[in-house]
Amino acid sequence: MLRWGILGPGWIAQRFVGAVQAHTGQQVVAVGSRSVDRAERFAAGLAIGRAHGCYNALVADPDVDIVYISTPHTEHLRGALDALHAGKHVLVEKPFGLNATQAREIAAAANAAGLFAGEAMWTRFLPKFDVLKQILDSGGLGPITTVSADHGEYFTTDHRIYDPTLAGGPMLDLGTYPIALAIWAGGEVDGVSATGRPANDELNGQISAIIDHTSGAQSVVTTTILSNTPVVASISGRDGFVHLPAPWYHPGPFSVFPRDGEPLHHVEPIGGHVDGLHFSAVDAARSVADGRSESAVHPHADIVATLSAMDAIRAQLGIEFPGGL
Ligand SMILES: NC(=O)c1ccc[n+]([C@@H]2O[C@H](COP(=O)([O-])OP(=O)(O)OC[C@H]3O[C@@H](n4cnc5c(N)ncnc54)[C@H](OP(=O)(O)O)[C@@H]3O)[C@@H](O)[C@H]2O)c1
Repeated sequence: MLRWGILGPGWIAQRFVGAVQAHTGQQVVAVGSRSVDRAERFAAGLAIGRAHGCYNALVADPDVDIVYISTPHTEHLRGALDALHAGKHVLVEKPFGLNATQAREIAAAANAAGLFAGEAMWTRFLPKFDVLKQILDSGGLGPITTVSADHGEYFTTDHRIYDPTLAGGPMLDLGTYPIALAIWAGGEVDGVSATGRPANDELNGQISAIIDHTSGAQSVVTTTILSNTPVVASISGRDGFVHLPAPWYHPGPFSVFPRDGEPLHHVEPIGGHVDGLHFSAVDAARSVADGRSESAVHPHADIVATLSAMDAIRAQLGIEFPGGL
């Protein structure tokens, strides 16, 4: 059991704490906000013992073992490094950093300090992905040829995702899921070909990309903030394919369609964030107990590979994040 501190009490933090409290023996003991009022409101609503009015006080709290970083993307690097330098393990919301360089920096800091740093890419830790991994590892689908994955969601322009100063656009909030799936199932990236469409004068709104893998497989990934899309995924190989119905990145069912033979169905109710965010917290606690600096399920190399592919796609589309990144 670890004692958790929450850094950045926003939308996802509320659901993360709810999931951890409902489904695990982990303890959320403190929250830190830039405003003491917001920290106190969040703490009161979720029965958290301590509310700090600044992030420095949270990372310095001696009763906190691990800090969950749930600030906007642009703040992940600073939050993670501050917590690691204060001697705390970290679980960072996706994306781990704005780019591969930032991800490597966080990983290196954790390694140097002998502390854990993980990315809360919750999908990867869901039980259905453990089942899926066993199917892929068994070789039952044959060599993988094609991965197809989509994540599109309509947002109104007042949402954080429309703010270029917070690295808005679909890539880091939504696109990270299909791209991470493509690399997980298709393997090492050989090259990317991407095209995009703007949301307005200053922000990308939509990306479609083909990822070529060194294995010979190809992935097709789409992401947009301009409309709700089906949010389905599939992984196809010579001997069969897996279909993940919407919303594929949540808890839920999937089916295997062998080329010769009857379909197999993984039966699981579709769940929301509060039904699934805790698995990454439990993985972090196991990793810490085992003395590891990274997750065995979602290691630093996977995190860096996904961000490297996103860097390559952004370079093709001329998408820059704050600070010229
Ligand atoms: N795993 C998932 O399914 C999932 C879903 C949604 C989001 N996320 C990730 O979680 C992160 C946060 O997303 P969110 O939707 O929870 O955001 P949010 O609701 O805007 O919350 C972010 C929090 O960060 C703090 N913050 C620090 N610096 C800030 C700044 N410059 N501008 C605005 N807020 C700032 C704010 O808290 P104080 O001001 O009180 O300190 C705010 O409450 C993102 O990186 C996103 O990718 C993950």
